[in-house]
Amino acid sequence: EGLHALMLSAGKLYFGTATDVGNHNDEKYQAILAHQGEFGIITPENSQKWEVTEPRRNQFVYTTADTVAEKAQDNGHLLRCHTLTWHSQLPPFVSSGSWNASDLTDILTTHITNVMTHFKGRCYAWDVVNEALEEDGTYRESVFYEVLGDKYIPLSFKIAAQADPEAKLYYNDFNLETSPKKADGAERIVKLVRDAGERIDGVGFQGHLIVGQTPSRRALAALLSRFARLGVEVAWTELDIAHDFSSAASNGSSAANATQLEQQAADYVSVVGACLDEPRCVGVTVWQFTDKYSWVPLAFPGRGEPCLWTATYTKKPAYDAVSKLL
Ligand code: XIL
Repeated sequence: EGLHALMLSAGKLYFGTATDVGNHNDEKYQAILAHQGEFGIITPENSQKWEVTEPRRNQFVYTTADTVAEKAQDNGHLLRCHTLTWHSQLPPFVSSGSWNASDLTDILTTHITNVMTHFKGRCYAWDVVNEALEEDGTYRESVFYEVLGDKYIPLSFKIAAQADPEAKLYYNDFNLETSPKKADGAERIVKLVRDAGERIDGVGFQGHLIVGQTPSRRALAALLSRFARLGVEVAWTELDIAHDFSSAASNGSSAANATQLEQQAADYVSVVGACLDEPRCVGVTVWQFTDKYSWVPLAFPGRGEPCLWTATYTKKPAYDAVSKLL
């Protein structure tokens, strides 16, 4: 039985993965992606980002995102849609413009409305605002924050709620597991949106973690339940747990040894287990399922092999451990 089927039996909504058009011609990859019961939802890894969907002002391009959405439909997968207001992967027209508040409000409104309307009815959830916080819990400097202050956050949720009333609207961020001040900031964002009278349905924990430095299941469950108590649902949205090959334990090697693979398995069990422990945790999405396509070694040289399958598509101890947990 696949991971998604097991998650359903455990009372959750899904087990999912990030994927994108770059993976479409890889037959072995596609066989696993389409394997009945393995995944129930996918997140387009890049195709719905602003630089792709609106590269120039008012020019909307949905070619690759539509291809991913069609593939999801063929496979019977739901879509977790990602992402609308984010400082990264922005087209130059947004990031290098010197906007006044009214212009940037127009740009945000047009973008969010157009993209959400295009995918209306097809997204289980949207990551409306992504990564608005610094590690110390203050707001990240971005064109949005500079021009609109923290109001860009409730504004984004307001536009999103109007564009697709059915989609769950999420705030999504990383290191909420390891930076307490950042977690405080995420809680502040939930309240900020609510106090402005807008709807926020969920907080997404990206879960880009490190083997041997992943908090315990108990600590992770406590973090999730802290947000659940605010009345939002929660999910692991971009889970991967990378080996740090620069650490002493790696001894110069850049391939995980048996001990490291066992630690990785234990860390995956902590994260997925925390979702099982929190009734308002709806599911887990991994950020790619094979080491072959992980973003981690490209973004963080010295780190790698964070996924459940090897680069040659064998299941790793982490896969077996998660499957046994479920
Ligand atoms: C990453 C993708 O995996 C890469 O392919 C891309 O080059 C950069 O973005 N947080 C997010 C994701 O919300 O969108 C990022 O995805 C990883 C970090």
